[in-house]
Amino acid sequence: MKNILITGGTGFIGSHTCLLLLEKGYNVFIIDSYINSSENSLKKVLEILENKKQSVRKKLYVIEGDLKIKSDIDKVFQSSIKVNKSIDAVIHFAGLKSLSESINEPLKYWENNVVGTINLLKIMEKYNCKTIVFSSSASVYKAKSDKLLKEDDICEPVNPYGYTKLTIERILCDLYKSYPSHWRIASLRYFNPAGAHYSGLIGEDPFGNPNNLYPQITKVAIGKLNEIKIFGSDWGTKDGTGIRDYIHVMDLAEGHLSALNHLLKEKPQNLTINLGTGKGTSVLELIKIFEKVNSIDIPFSFDKRRQGDKAFVVADISFAKLKLNWEPKFSIEDICRDGWNWQLNNPNGYLN
Ligand code: NAD
Ligand code: UD1
Repeated sequence: MKNILITGGTGFIGSHTCLLLLEKGYNVFIIDSYINSSENSLKKVLEILENKKQSVRKKLYVIEGDLKIKSDIDKVFQSSIKVNKSIDAVIHFAGLKSLSESINEPLKYWENNVVGTINLLKIMEKYNCKTIVFSSSASVYKAKSDKLLKEDDICEPVNPYGYTKLTIERILCDLYKSYPSHWRIASLRYFNPAGAHYSGLIGEDPFGNPNNLYPQITKVAIGKLNEIKIFGSDWGTKDGTGIRDYIHVMDLAEGHLSALNHLLKEKPQNLTINLGTGKGTSVLELIKIFEKVNSIDIPFSFDKRRQGDKAFVVADISFAKLKLNWEPKFSIEDICRDGWNWQLNNPNGYLN
């Protein structure tokens, strides 16, 4: 069975992907600095698998380390060799993701996301590991119309965070071109990840106040926030509120597994692929669906538009279907049910 390094594997998407990989029998190595996560997420991953009578403790190796420090990454590759499981491929989640923070502290974002990735790629080269799945984002797109976004649409980020993602895609592209017979690369552009594993044992646990809509809705539902402030009611959409493509985090995890298997099986290549659902949901619709599915009231009021926001950001996922034979299975109702189940069972996230 293959040995996979997951950077940022204790975070929201990383922990769900780690669960899936362990479930499928992969050996998983994790490097995480815990800058935005808790090691408790992995304890819960193990609990889920033990509840299913799957003992995977000997398949999971966790190392606290920072991608900004090359020797930390080297340590992980060394430790994989020591246990005779040298790393075959990397799924690279580690990164900072707050838009507003990236505007206020751009150097922190460029250093963490871009320098961290360059360090990772250098160490991968050193150990002749040339397969990587990278977490990119829909925030790279210009997205100025109500058309579904395709991978070859114009990219023009509006904040440093988005630029770090586009820059990393560019670096990966250059790296591939420098050695096309060796590198296997997939940059996955996620739309709006939300929801949680159905067990309610793992989920999204943002430090501080979340800026994104979905975690705000669950915080209002649990009573930690009073109401949702809807950013704009005049967007030119069907109900005037912003439309996004919310994708269940377990569908996203499956998308990573499909990309990984595709890269490991096929010839060297560099892919850029949207991971979304292809279906748009407005802010008001999301609130209403959450209320209906969970029988709970979500108070809201209208506020002014958020700077840098867009009316309509929805993926065309035909390339993911074609290349990876992947498509999402969960509905927006599933997202609302599972995310609430996690929040209700863990009002304080992993601090419980
Ligand atoms: P997250 O913050 O929950 O997970 C990121 C993990 O990376 C955390 O565990 C954090 O501690 C770790 N990390 C950050 N910098 C590190 C470093 N230098 N060294 C080691 N570990 C480090 O975020 P997430 O929602 O799971 O997102 C995962 C990836 O997907 C990120 O790169 C993010 O930019 C990208 N992405 C996320 C979304 C989203 O809405 N969640 C959307 C598009 C793209
Ligand atoms: C935001 C980022 C994007 C990033 C993505 C996932 C911006 C401009 N874009 O995207 O780069 O990749 O998160 O991390 O911030 N909304 C409200 N009230 C709120 C929060 C959000 O009305 O309190 C609305 C927004 O205006 C938008 C929708 O909800 O219409 C979704 O917002 P959000 O969850 O922040 O995601 P994105 O805007 O898609």
